[in-house]
Parts: sequence; structure tokens; C-alpha cells
Amino acid sequence: MDREKITLTGTQETMLATLYGRAVDSRSPHSVLGDHTAQEAVQRVAYDFGKTGMTETTAVGIALRARQLDDWTTAFLAEHQKATVLHLACGLDTRVHRIDPSSSVRWLDVDYPDVIELRKQLLPQPSGNYEMVASSVTEEAWLRDVPDDRPTVAVMEGLTMYLHKEEGKRLIQRITDRFPGGQLLFDVYGSLGIRLQKMVPAVRNAGATLHWGLDDPREIEGWHDGLTLMDAVRSVDMPGMEAMPTTGRMSMKVMAHLPGFKDVGRILRYRF
Ligand SMILES: C[S@@+](CC[C@H](N)C(=O)[O-])C[C@H]1O[C@@H](n2cnc3c(N)ncnc32)[C@H](O)[C@@H]1O
Repeated sequence: MDREKITLTGTQETMLATLYGRAVDSRSPHSVLGDHTAQEAVQRVAYDFGKTGMTETTAVGIALRARQLDDWTTAFLAEHQKATVLHLACGLDTRVHRIDPSSSVRWLDVDYPDVIELRKQLLPQPSGNYEMVASSVTEEAWLRDVPDDRPTVAVMEGLTMYLHKEEGKRLIQRITDRFPGGQLLFDVYGSLGIRLQKMVPAVRNAGATLHWGLDDPREIEGWHDGLTLMDAVRSVDMPGMEAMPTTGRMSMKVMAHLPGFKDVGRILRYRF
């Protein structure tokens, strides 16, 4: 089988690390996500996944983050059968396959054109009301084309840190202004995480740069009337940490008690 050659660099390349994390997790007998489609995609690309610096601990961390966002998305769709899902910076994430929404859900996977091109080559096409959008999320046009008729959940995993704060704010305001109501689900780096970004092999080796760090999740509540924080889960204290190898679990426990380090990353849920 000819493998797809990877020509992506920088921000776009980082999605191979998260894909690989879910693939590594899927090989474990105690897999958190069981994302076998990720493993199949990994086998179809010619890429040195050693560049990602993935360990068993970081792979479980990526899978736990994805599972938290899957669970919140599923809970939203259970409450709103007719809804829109904006899955922004989708990369090669198989969230739509894992959640398998009913045909009454409109689902958009959005990422840069070169990423969407690769996605079309590597991942199965989901059935139902599904669309891929090849655009930067900061462009204005793509969102204007999404009907504003339904409650909307925007899921943005591994995105905000690549945006400048003003871009993130504008994106959040465009979404909350446009739809009648819904939720925003995303992860953030704290400012210490941004300062220590060169210690993250997937970021360093892809030549990507992280910009926006958020230390106070309540800050975002002021960006739109009625925008309210529902949950803030620390990355060092995610549900399911027991799936990590002992050494990884111990270092998370230590970090969870160190000022600065305990807020190195968070997964956030807001309603609007
Ligand atoms: C760390 S990866 C995460 C990918 C995916 N969410 C996952 O968890 O596997 C970062 C992703 O953000 C995307 N990205 C960053 N900035 C973007 C922008 N302005 N517009 C669209 N996608 C963006 C990159 O192309 C890449 O797919």
C-alpha cells in the first residue's frame, strides 16, 4: 500500500501528534477511547511519528481530553436532537465517527485546506448531514454560510493556543452572536504552558508557535451577554487519570499541587 506523504508543517503538522496519541491509546487493552480509525489512519501515512515525542502517558492524556470533549458533545446532543456541531480545527480527529450523531444533527468539520485535503484521503466519509469546510476558522465567510436556525455546540480541541487572543475573542463572539444558544467546548493552555511551549516535542518539532494562554476562565464570560462557565477541568486532574502509567500519574499528582503548574492546561465548557 502506498502511504500518503506528509508535506504539512507548523500548526497543521501538530494534528499528526494528537492523531498518533489516539492511535497509541487504541492499541492498549485498557484503551480510553478505542479509536481504531485513528490507528488505521496512522498506518496510511508516511511520517516519522517519533517526532511527536509521544509517550504512553501523553497518549492517555490526549485520549482523556478527547473523551471529556466527546462526553460534553454527546450530552449536548442528547438535550438538543436538532442541533449544529461546529468541530473547529478538526485535524484528523474522528470525533464524528466516535459520536456517530443522528441524521437530525448538522455536523461541520473545519480546518485549513491542506488538512481537509488529507482528511478526505485518510478518513472514511461519515453518513448523515455532514460537511467539511476548508478554511481558517478566523476567516469570516465560512460561518456566514452556516444556517443560524439551531442550538449550536462549538468543539475546539487543540485550537485556542494557536490563535492570538484577539482572534480567539473574535471567533467566540462571532459564534455566540450568530446562533440562538448553545455551548462552547475547548481546551486552553495557561500562561505558564505558553512560556514552556518549547518543552512540548510535538510543538517544537513541527516548528509551531503557541500564542494565547488563559489563566482565568471567567474572563471569557465578559465577551458576550449570558456567556457562562459551566465546567473547568484541569489537564493535570482529568477524570480517568488512573489509565496512565504509574510514573505519569505520579507526576500529574505532583503538578496538581504546584502553583502555576496546576493551571498549565484546562478543558472548559461554557453555555450561551
Ligand atoms: C493540535 S492540532 C489538533 C487537531 C484536532 N483537534 C485533534 O485533536 O486531533 C491543531 C489543529 O488546529 C488547526 N488550526 C490551527 N489554527 C487554525 C485556524 N486558524 N483555522 C483552522 N484550523 C486551525 C491545525 O490545522 C491543526 O489541525
